[in-house]
Amino acid sequence: MANVVVVGSQWGDEGKGKIVDWLSERADVVVRFHGGHNAGHTLVIDGVSYKLALLPSGLVQGKFSVIGNGVVVDPHHFVAELEKLRAQGVTITPEVLRIADNAPLILSLHRELDGIREDATAGLKIGTTRRGIGPAYEDKVGRRAIRLVDLSEPETLLPKIERLLTHHNALRRGMGLPEIEAQAIYDELTTISDQILPFMDQVWRVLDDKRREGARILFEGAQGALLDNDHGTYPFVTSSNTVAGQAAAGSGLGPTAIGYVLGITKAYTTRVGEGPFPCELDDDIGRHLATVGREVGVNTGRARRCGWFDAVLVRQTVRTSGITGIALTKLDVLDGLKQIKVCVGYELEGSRIDYLPASMGAQAAVKPIYETLEGWSETTAGARSWADLPAQAVKYVRRIEELIGAPVAMLSTSPERNDTILVHDPFQD
Ligand code: GDP
Ligand code: IMO
Ligand code: MG
Repeated sequence: MANVVVVGSQWGDEGKGKIVDWLSERADVVVRFHGGHNAGHTLVIDGVSYKLALLPSGLVQGKFSVIGNGVVVDPHHFVAELEKLRAQGVTITPEVLRIADNAPLILSLHRELDGIREDATAGLKIGTTRRGIGPAYEDKVGRRAIRLVDLSEPETLLPKIERLLTHHNALRRGMGLPEIEAQAIYDELTTISDQILPFMDQVWRVLDDKRREGARILFEGAQGALLDNDHGTYPFVTSSNTVAGQAAAGSGLGPTAIGYVLGITKAYTTRVGEGPFPCELDDDIGRHLATVGREVGVNTGRARRCGWFDAVLVRQTVRTSGITGIALTKLDVLDGLKQIKVCVGYELEGSRIDYLPASMGAQAAVKPIYETLEGWSETTAGARSWADLPAQAVKYVRRIEELIGAPVAMLSTSPERNDTILVHDPFQD
């Protein structure tokens, strides 16, 4: 019985929430292992939509869920999301949710800094979610972060905040911003600590105990492999590792606990924010994909950029994340298109290449080389078995498998949880 890691294989928003929700029926534990409330995962169950950012999607099914040490936690957002989901009838208590004691916190100063950098006219605009993710991770690796466990020791919290502020106030003076008083951050945290501390636990121990008991663990990735801080389109990336390997470091379970890596893959490509996008379509087809696919950011409401399926990128992700199989989502969005293009290689300075180069300049310069496939006029929306798929749609799926070097384990044909085709059960691998 394999534990399963779900990762996004493109630039995020591939449909991870829907697939994690579907798989969580077969899982005993669901774990978030990186990122924070920059994620926006949508679940639709019997017409009711749930939108999660920080909380693991397994909670909607009532599954025991964990926020691992690799996640950056905004305690105020945590409480707000908890209340929002409770209002939708989801039960969230320390019985079903644990947060790692060693998880770093996102503070108001991180959110402010994120926004100020994005608004600056000089420098590089990333198009972040402005939720403080990048600055919080910077403080973590800078060894000055406030972590969840620090809230349980209020007597030593103030000096920790003062140490953090030595860095931030120097930065703020340089930016012409007013300095921050340690007491203000102290109050910001202590007013909320009794609402989050009951969820705190030694997650590494909880997960290892579960594993030894034979529990099936489902790791819920956020973002996508092309937003990975090492392997993505740097610097237009997020500030965490989003590849499957992070599931181990970000939860405290060793890599031997991971069995199957499921790459969630959209049948075309989208991206939110700035950065290279070789197959981007600024034409009627791009607008068609955006409209039919309802490509609007869950958290920020920003329009997602759309383009054809890029097999070069996903093939690379299959390798950097060790993807065993993919869940292909949003096939229905391609219904009715006469022709469908797939990017099979790039042209760079007159030569053909079969990979995404590391250089920022080369990433911006590559031109897609397309293969054209015939579309289908029938509808795949809501299909629940292979037999319901038109022959051309099956051909499209088969060609994608060939090009990326990984099989389709699951197929999704609408936002609704049950409009899903299981080809191979990842837990049975
Ligand atoms: P995530 O961040 O990877 O969880 O994905 P998002 O929730 O941000 O974006 C995916 C969107 O597509 C959501 O609105 C889903 O409800 C929707 N969705 C998921 N799978 C399908 C599918 O197979 N077909 C269609 N039409 N929509 C889907
Ligand atoms: P889910 O989990 C799509 C993008 C932002 C920006 C870059 C850096 O829903 O797939 P950040 O706020 O993380 O510093 O922003 O990463 N980004 C996402 N794009 N889906 C997401 O999450 C994303 N989370 C961050 O748009 O380009
Ligand atoms: Mg999303």
